[in-house]
Amino acid sequence: DMTTPIPSPTRIPFLGNAASLDRDMPYQSMNLLAKEYGEIYQLTIISRKILVVSSQRLVNEVSDESRFRKMVAGGLANVRLVAGDGLFTAHVPGDENWYIAHRLLMPAFSPTATQGMYGDMMDIISQLVLKWERYGPEYAIDPVADFTRLTLDALMLCSMNYRLNSFYREETHPFITSLGDFLFQCMTRANTPAIVNALKLKTQAQFEEDQRVLNSLVDEVLDERKAHPIDKNDLLNLMLNGVDKETGKKLPEQTIKYNLLTFFIAGHETTSGMLTFAIYHLLKNPEAMRKLREEIETQIGDRVVSVKDVNKLPYLIAVMRETLRLTPSIPQRGTSAIEDTTVADGKFAVPKGMNIIVNISAAHRDPLVWGNDADVFRPERMLDGKFEALPSNAWQPFGNGMRACIGRAFAWQEVQLALITLLQKFDFVLDDPSYDLHVKQALSIKPASLRIHAIPRAGQG
Ligand code: HEM
Repeated sequence: DMTTPIPSPTRIPFLGNAASLDRDMPYQSMNLLAKEYGEIYQLTIISRKILVVSSQRLVNEVSDESRFRKMVAGGLANVRLVAGDGLFTAHVPGDENWYIAHRLLMPAFSPTATQGMYGDMMDIISQLVLKWERYGPEYAIDPVADFTRLTLDALMLCSMNYRLNSFYREETHPFITSLGDFLFQCMTRANTPAIVNALKLKTQAQFEEDQRVLNSLVDEVLDERKAHPIDKNDLLNLMLNGVDKETGKKLPEQTIKYNLLTFFIAGHETTSGMLTFAIYHLLKNPEAMRKLREEIETQIGDRVVSVKDVNKLPYLIAVMRETLRLTPSIPQRGTSAIEDTTVADGKFAVPKGMNIIVNISAAHRDPLVWGNDADVFRPERMLDGKFEALPSNAWQPFGNGMRACIGRAFAWQEVQLALITLLQKFDFVLDDPSYDLHVKQALSIKPASLRIHAIPRAGQG
């Protein structure tokens, strides 16, 4: 055996290395461990052995789909409680419904189909603008809360023709609260021994109640559609009526429900996190904010942004790429080797089926790719031309290969329409100018306790 042992933090009995992970922020612990142990290390969480890879070259290697495939384990495996064999949490190969749903739904998420959602997206964006105009400049806005309203309402309207109307209630929608709790629990439980989970009776009861709340919204959406069918090729109708050309099969009703919940989960937390991080980075980097405003002023001015403007503002695109580099909404993903193999030019042995955590948030700061200012927000490095010249898989915020994000064009369009409109309407300032980024992690990451002020711009409103 010519391979080198994979470095591993000292094993702590029973808890394994779970004790080296900050349970509220495992991705940051993993980044710290990467600084100490290098581009690959092994952890034992309870009794589960995992490998963590943190450099661009290893991310690139494990992105080879002929050797590695997505593994649903840890926190994500817990999400199967409500998302089952839906697209995000399906075991592939194995869950046949993944292939059927993938083939039926890909066309509904194409850039062209997404352009058709322009009107519905702008409808919800204007509700946000109205709310912030009414707040006025004195009010300390919680951007995570309002961007979550925006992205969940837009997703439900665009894909299911369903109006959640989150902007019409002061309190957070119970669905959003339950979803946040549920996802946080899914992750925490993955790092806690089963016996400890079982003993926390109150938490367990809440966990079950959250699942009930999540499932009841799905039932409501589905029942309403069945009672009032509409003639529209939205996602829901595609799933209800679509017949897979390859197998001649339809999706079972339970899998349709799993996928509805999957879109609620995957489709809004990630995008609202991205919007909030974008505002945060722009506020901390006034020169980038100035350049972006200038681009919007020269290319669009005061008119309402149109669907033709999407993907036409190069500096905005660079800001979005740089936002997802430094603060990727989903900071890590899971994969595993299809057969026993080695990585890093044969240096380390990787057994078949072992869970590998692909630490995207660390690889996105790999100094070999990004240089000494890897921690600095600098959109210029992401401009067209430079971006294409990056080493392969150096920037991978939307996952990999056939299991990559299906909603990428959707999110990309929504974030552009929202940021352009918001910067046309408002100047932004931090409530606390000394605020430094704190991150809250469930399956995705979001800034915690960030507050901003939105000041209507002269000549607007
Ligand atoms: C998969 C990121 C928005 C639906 C993924 C994955 C990542 C990701 C990293 C792969 C996860 C893994 O390997 O385990 C993001 C980011 C978004 C975003 C950063 C926004 C900024 C959306 C939206 C939707 C969506 C808007 C739905 C409308 C999905 C689905 C999958 C997925 C269904 C699973 C695909 C499959 O395995 O077939 N996303 N996502 N995402 N995303 Fe997104």
